[in-house]
Amino acid sequence: MIKAVRGTRDLLPPETALWNFVESAVRDVFRAYNFQEIRTPIFEETELFARGVGEETDIVSKEMYTWFDRGDDPESILKWAWWGQYGVKYSSVEGRVSSNGQFAFVAHADNETTIVAPKIAPGFSTVIALRDIKSRWVSEHGTSIPKLAVAVPSSNANSLNIQNDIEIMPTRMPHEYERPQSVTLRPENTAGVVRAYIEHKLWDRGLNKLFYIGPQFRRERPQKGRYRQFYQIGAEIIGPATAGSESPARDAELLEMLATLLNRLGITEWTLELNSIGSPSDRFAFNEALRKALEPVVGSMCVDCQRRAVTNPLRVLDCKVPEDQPIIEKLPRITQFLSEASRTHFDAVCEILSKVEVPFTLNDRLVRGLDYYTRTAFEFTHGTLGAQNAILGGGRYDGLSEALGGPAAPGIGFAIGEDRLVMSLKAETAAEAAARAPIVYIAPLGAGMNAEAARLARELRQHKQLVDCGPVELGDESFRLKKSFETASKLGTRYILIVGENEVKSGSFALKNLATGEQISVLRNELVEKISQPQ
Ligand code: HAM
Repeated sequence: MIKAVRGTRDLLPPETALWNFVESAVRDVFRAYNFQEIRTPIFEETELFARGVGEETDIVSKEMYTWFDRGDDPESILKWAWWGQYGVKYSSVEGRVSSNGQFAFVAHADNETTIVAPKIAPGFSTVIALRDIKSRWVSEHGTSIPKLAVAVPSSNANSLNIQNDIEIMPTRMPHEYERPQSVTLRPENTAGVVRAYIEHKLWDRGLNKLFYIGPQFRRERPQKGRYRQFYQIGAEIIGPATAGSESPARDAELLEMLATLLNRLGITEWTLELNSIGSPSDRFAFNEALRKALEPVVGSMCVDCQRRAVTNPLRVLDCKVPEDQPIIEKLPRITQFLSEASRTHFDAVCEILSKVEVPFTLNDRLVRGLDYYTRTAFEFTHGTLGAQNAILGGGRYDGLSEALGGPAAPGIGFAIGEDRLVMSLKAETAAEAAARAPIVYIAPLGAGMNAEAARLARELRQHKQLVDCGPVELGDESFRLKKSFETASKLGTRYILIVGENEVKSGSFALKNLATGEQISVLRNELVEKISQPQ
């Protein structure tokens, strides 16, 4: 039997009614706060996430679904090159993408590792890419230093002028060799929204208030509340600073909207944890202080922390390993490094939140798992969710547009984990939102009655007054009356309406209330009124 892939799942009725209930409530709230919908593609160029979310994050370094699309199969080119160069096969190989968006292979043979970029005409950016992948490889794997190489068409090999620490592998390449494009299923939607902002020059519209609802993909270890395909409901406020995008009023508006939204869904046991992670220069000073503080102690921490202490010390604060917590507890705190401007901005956010009576808790250890954040960062957690208790997270990303090659465009946003939101709905809310039983079941009685029943169903379904009370279900003439009754009762239907030859001729139909057992004859033009009558 073919099953859904691990970490993915089918959402089935009646649970889908809850999803619709949530989505329709959030659309109402978004409308009230003047947010408009944006839909971006489900896959994007890998470089967008490498540059946007950050190479050192777990999301980019471990969890992305990435593949080469279009172009020639680069591995077959590598195979030929390798064979031509060494006369043996490599034992294993994996693809890597550099921070400037180029890809290369890391191939292993006889205890030697070589990083190879297949290229028609390698240039300076290829050299940068190879060195970038090499330095990351060394920081992840320690001692053995990989060789660097380019696989080039034999016709170009002799005339190639490239750094002499880079080996040249002449190989066969298809005549019109096309650079394969590395693409990735989106692990989150903020980078895609900012890409669209730049691509469509959305700054012309001033301040953009955008929302999205859709699937995201992360190759995490699946558990309750954590999936490989999950759904986010998110929003972003982005625009030029002159349009007010940097104002603390926007941070507070977004947080107040979230409080309203959760309350409206009947989710009351939430906690808003709030922090400012400062401007890039505040964070630079903080990172340096962390690096220094970690130096003498990092040897006794987990391997991830040992790596992060060198590459991105801020990530150490994300560590969940219990043994590391006493060390983390003693590390410097971001609050000591906030500049006057960052502090004033954050104080203004807190002040508005207090005025509009949105409760929050300050947590100066909250750093978030994505690199684009600046200043305000937050998470809403929910008591009943267990280990995966973050129902939503977000923050400012004032430099993201520039990091992606766009103009300055401060922004702030959030994403709710919809799977977790649905899990935290109260039983009463869930029951209320569950799919409604049909109001009437139309039972054609006898051969040839399907057409008459269809005509009547069509008439009834066109009356809003009636369908507002519940769906109209249509049976089948092959069912005996007993089976029609059984089917209608199983569906929880209020009425059954019999459509037999006599009824059609006389224009008067038998309508039976399945709860009370009362049966009456109703004229065709009185059916809507009768069926929609409140009980
Ligand atoms: P994030 O914290 O990575 O932020 O994800 C937001 C929410 O998505 C989490 O709080 C969680 O509820 C849900 N989530 C994340 N991973 C999974 C998973 N594997 N299974 C189920 N739910 C999950 C972002 O994605 C940012 N783009 C938010 C943002 C928008 N920041 C600024 N604008």
